[in-house]
Amino acid sequence: MHLTKYEEESLKGENGPALQMAYRVLLAIGRISGAEKLIPVEWAHVSGVSYLTIGDYGLEFLKRISSSKGAKFRVFTTVNPCGMDTQKWDEMKISADYADNQLKINSYYQKLGVATSFTCVPFQSYKVPRARTHVAWAESSAAIYANSILGLMTNRESAVSALASALTGKTVLCDLHIEENRKPTKIVRVSFERQHSGRRFKGSLDFGILGYFAGAIVPGVIGFSGIRTQPEIEESKALCAAIGTVGSSGMFVINPSGKKKLETIEFTKKEYNETFSELSDSEDGELIVFGCPQMTLEELYELSRSLEYKKLKKKCVVFCSSKVYEIAKAHGYTDTIEGAGAMFVRDACADFTPLLSSLGVDSVVTDSCKGAHYMKRVHNVKVALKDISKIVKENSSP
Ligand code: F3S
Repeated sequence: MHLTKYEEESLKGENGPALQMAYRVLLAIGRISGAEKLIPVEWAHVSGVSYLTIGDYGLEFLKRISSSKGAKFRVFTTVNPCGMDTQKWDEMKISADYADNQLKINSYYQKLGVATSFTCVPFQSYKVPRARTHVAWAESSAAIYANSILGLMTNRESAVSALASALTGKTVLCDLHIEENRKPTKIVRVSFERQHSGRRFKGSLDFGILGYFAGAIVPGVIGFSGIRTQPEIEESKALCAAIGTVGSSGMFVINPSGKKKLETIEFTKKEYNETFSELSDSEDGELIVFGCPQMTLEELYELSRSLEYKKLKKKCVVFCSSKVYEIAKAHGYTDTIEGAGAMFVRDACADFTPLLSSLGVDSVVTDSCKGAHYMKRVHNVKVALKDISKIVKENSSP
């Protein structure tokens, strides 16, 4: 791989240990992928923030990197949700030890110069660059959204490779950074409506189930046919999150053009029902969880409208970033949602937080396929998967 003089020097450690580590990571990826060179990125999004997932090893690693000479983020860098609400963790039965470690992790990222976004929907809170801009985003749901909806170019970065990109301002020129690799490899055809008594294929649950099915069987770029070219934001978000939960695909194209005949996989009522049953193993749940990925302003608006003049009959937690919360508050959405009895958890990941365990529930009801997948595995709870409007209807009264 061709390296500039500065990159060579950094690899030798002449510009400090953090840059040396970062260039070693990029060089290793470059060699495996047969890349020619590194390219600049305009935005890095780092994951590996929740203490629940990175533990003491990750904490020590970040402590070392952030305190090493010359270590700083050289490009605009946002950060994924952490493992608790940093402002009211003590109200949520989070242990002091856990909170202390989480706050340390957050401070190490801040020392490096991160924008304290704590969100997995970074495109909602910051100005998105023009299409075809190279970025380096960890968090699979955001990376797939970046490629497929925003037209940005990123690979599905790991926590370590995104950190390396943040420290260097560069990524490896390979895979989805190259135009010719951004074409569908297989088609998933949604033949759903005719077989589903005419019911329209719509809403975040339907798109999430489609994504979970397609992500598991297509490792490359997925071509979808039989759906609207412009799904709503929440539908796209659910589709991206579910694709990223299983398999390695980093992008999809809706109704792709092109003459090349590609293998086509049918997604019918049968595949829909099988995928749904894999994810949903309960009729109902003790706790309602909304916000995996974290809720956007539009979703909070819709939720507030559906909860107007209503009270929830069971506990409900809503995950979003502080930034989105503040805007939603200014519009009055959060007052309506909280007034109905829901509790906001800001800046945290819905799945990788000790909150669910500390609430002591055995089952949850959610609209998120990604949430269903992880909550079962991380918190060992049963999950009822339902459309958001159905959840509100079944669990609220005037
Ligand atoms: Fe976001 Fe955590 Fe879900 S990072 S996509 S809320 S698993």
